[in-house]
Amino acid sequence: MKILVIHGPNLNMLGKREPEYYGSETLLDINQQLIKLAATANLEIETFQSNIEGELVSKIQEAGNAEVEDCEQSQQMKGIILNAGAYTHTSIALRDAISSIKVPVIEVHLSNIHAREDFRHTSMIAAVCKGQISGFAAKSYILALKYFIDG
Ligand code: DQA
Repeated sequence: MKILVIHGPNLNMLGKREPEYYGSETLLDINQQLIKLAATANLEIETFQSNIEGELVSKIQEAGNAEVEDCEQSQQMKGIILNAGAYTHTSIALRDAISSIKVPVIEVHLSNIHAREDFRHTSMIAAVCKGQISGFAAKSYILALKYFIDG
């Protein structure tokens, strides 16, 4: 069984980028923590980062198509953990991509988007995700993974 972890725009800058919001851990640190925890539950982690909206859409489609085309593959793809970064607040294309697949997606954010600027309070993707975890730094990803491990 596999979990796909998708990191959106600017998340490749973690560690250097606004540590007061995003902490000091790098993307590699976060990915390594997820891989380690997943291994305890016999789950495989695939990670993907892109600054390009269309590439994020394609990756989500790919996860969904695998399900349609290959039953075995579908059993392997247990869920997606998605930090869509700023596209969270703007991207109807990402929302439509999530709606078009059956694989459950958990929306995560390092910072608490509801405690920040007004434009971050709206998520275009929240309504089509299984749920949203926001404000626990790297632990937001860990909590999402724990849901998939337990569920
Ligand atoms: C973020 C929150 C977004 O508002 C922001 O644009 C990001 C990161 C977070 O993880 O807290 O890039 O998704």
